[in-house]
Amino acid sequence: MDTMGTLRRTHYSEQVDASLEGNTLTLAGSIAKSRDLGSMIFADLRDGTGIVQLAFGDGTDPAVFEKARTLRAEYVVLAQGQLRKRESPNPELPTGYYELFVTDLRVLSEAETPPFEIRDDLNVGDELRLRYRYLDLRREGLHRTMRLRSEVTRAVRDYYYSQHFDEVETPMLIKSTPEGARDYLVPSRVQQGRFYALPQSPQLYKQILMLSGFDRYFQIARCFRDEDLRADRQPEFTQIDMEMSFCDEEDVQSVNEGLIKVIFKQFMGVDIPTPFPRMPYPEAMARFGSDKPDTRFGLELCDVSDLVRDSEFGVFSGAIEKGGSVRLINAKGLADKLSRKAIDKLTDVAKTYGAKGLAYLRLTADGESSSYEKFLSEEEKASLRQRAGAQTGDVLLLVADNDNVVFAALGALRLALAEKYGLLPEGQYHFLWVTDFPLFEFNEEEGRHVAMHHPFTMPKEEDIEKLDVDPGACRAKAYDMVVNGVELGGGSIRINNPVLQAQMFGLLGITEEDARMKFGFLMDAYHYGAPPHGGMAFGLDRFIALLAGKSSIRDVIAFPKVQNAGEPMSGCPDKVDQKQLEELGIELAKQPD
Ligand code: AMO
Ligand code: AMP
Repeated sequence: MDTMGTLRRTHYSEQVDASLEGNTLTLAGSIAKSRDLGSMIFADLRDGTGIVQLAFGDGTDPAVFEKARTLRAEYVVLAQGQLRKRESPNPELPTGYYELFVTDLRVLSEAETPPFEIRDDLNVGDELRLRYRYLDLRREGLHRTMRLRSEVTRAVRDYYYSQHFDEVETPMLIKSTPEGARDYLVPSRVQQGRFYALPQSPQLYKQILMLSGFDRYFQIARCFRDEDLRADRQPEFTQIDMEMSFCDEEDVQSVNEGLIKVIFKQFMGVDIPTPFPRMPYPEAMARFGSDKPDTRFGLELCDVSDLVRDSEFGVFSGAIEKGGSVRLINAKGLADKLSRKAIDKLTDVAKTYGAKGLAYLRLTADGESSSYEKFLSEEEKASLRQRAGAQTGDVLLLVADNDNVVFAALGALRLALAEKYGLLPEGQYHFLWVTDFPLFEFNEEEGRHVAMHHPFTMPKEEDIEKLDVDPGACRAKAYDMVVNGVELGGGSIRINNPVLQAQMFGLLGITEEDARMKFGFLMDAYHYGAPPHGGMAFGLDRFIALLAGKSSIRDVIAFPKVQNAGEPMSGCPDKVDQKQLEELGIELAKQPD
């Protein structure tokens, strides 16, 4: 094995171009592959910014040539030589017209054959990739994404600094105040039997910072939530977290629209028009069946409850009688494509969202057919067609149930149809704010109202008097930033009046004693002068996934967790020594396998 000696990298692959032809360069990296043609040897050197071909042959020092012969994939090398034109260029590669004719080669580390080839187009199972994440991360695509993440993070910081925000770090070991997701707990050794929680977000601290006179705060903050993994959810993730004083909803929204504008211009070359459209929550639900509507395509929901109230079809009239609704989507022009079998598949989608079935009315040139034909009067049919703006070639898809189920099922159907039938335009970003969220949602399991955003969210001024009489009808000063059906971020204006805050806790079924125990410090703080304030947080991982065109945030996180919340490379979570447990005063009720 060689040492570097005095040799040092002079250039990265991405810098190699015509202007350097004839120059002496020193490149450093790993061997992607090598080909020994007898009198010539070629090797691809990969350095995280790209690939450059190394060439050895006529005129190469025999000792260097012999060493080149030993090169294998993933060997780590330094190579010095002259940049020259390639005899057979590779137009696929940005550096493909040049090669480094090597005069000095140092093999700094050898490598065993990796369990998979380091290539972007390789189809390797996630499990293996994540177990060998250090190899996976060598792949050019993943490398590029992680560098994008780094650059975007820097641009985010620059933006908030330019808007006079200060970055303040808030603690990772905090008091457990479960509301929302489950907390990750950390046992205290010094105070046995007591626990810290890892923050689900810096929420309480950033509010306190406003009371401390830090008018404008931001932080790139790690957050922890013990909830089930999904493509857009990790137990450990990163927020771009911000808060500002002396503001209302519009002020927070406009600062953060500015961020989106700057980032999209810089990294995507796309002009995002501002201000974004605002859509009140009830409208988002009624039109798209979702509080994070993908507004890139139509297929909007249509309420037909009034038309089928007296329908002979008991499923419909019955649902309405029970306070539910009947709504439909007009699958425009899809009659040919939506065969019986295709509709069965859509029915399965609807059922996973709680629907008991999916009724349809198909309008073809050969006539009409429906899943509930025998109950469907001509009059009813005509009124449905008219309401849905239906023409020959369309299929009406109907769901009857309580509103929650109808929205969830049709909202999901809408997305499934768009995906399956190619209605999602590439390269378009439809940003909007969903506003006017309900302050509370009713939790059937717990039989009480819970905060839709969080308990510190300010109600709309005009709804404050309704708080005690009709909490369900109260709206919050809360907003989500949505793009292409993804909730990129969300926030609210906070309650800065301790009396109102106490009332909120009461409505949430949190006793005074409990509120004091969990949030006493916060409630006290608000007695010493609190400017009006609000803020929001973006999911940085979701943001990067959007910019990088990835469908899972796992592909934009260096060391992500997998389905069982484990991290396969290091093998955590793991057992710990008995001694460690004893120090913490912890006895396991059950031994891990
Ligand atoms: P919220 O809970 O809506 O708000 O979170 C803000 C944003 O964080 C992202 N996010 C996640 N990303 C990946 N994995 C997860 N498990 C995950 N959970 C949330 C989403 C989401 O929009 N403190 C408030 C913000 C505020 O009021 O200022 C908060 O945390 O993109
Ligand atoms: P059934 O009477 O159960 O055979 O259902 C007749 C048709 O109505 C079938 O196409 C079912 O999928 C559909 N259907 C059943 N329940 C519902 C519902 N809640 N909403 C919409 N369609 C339904």
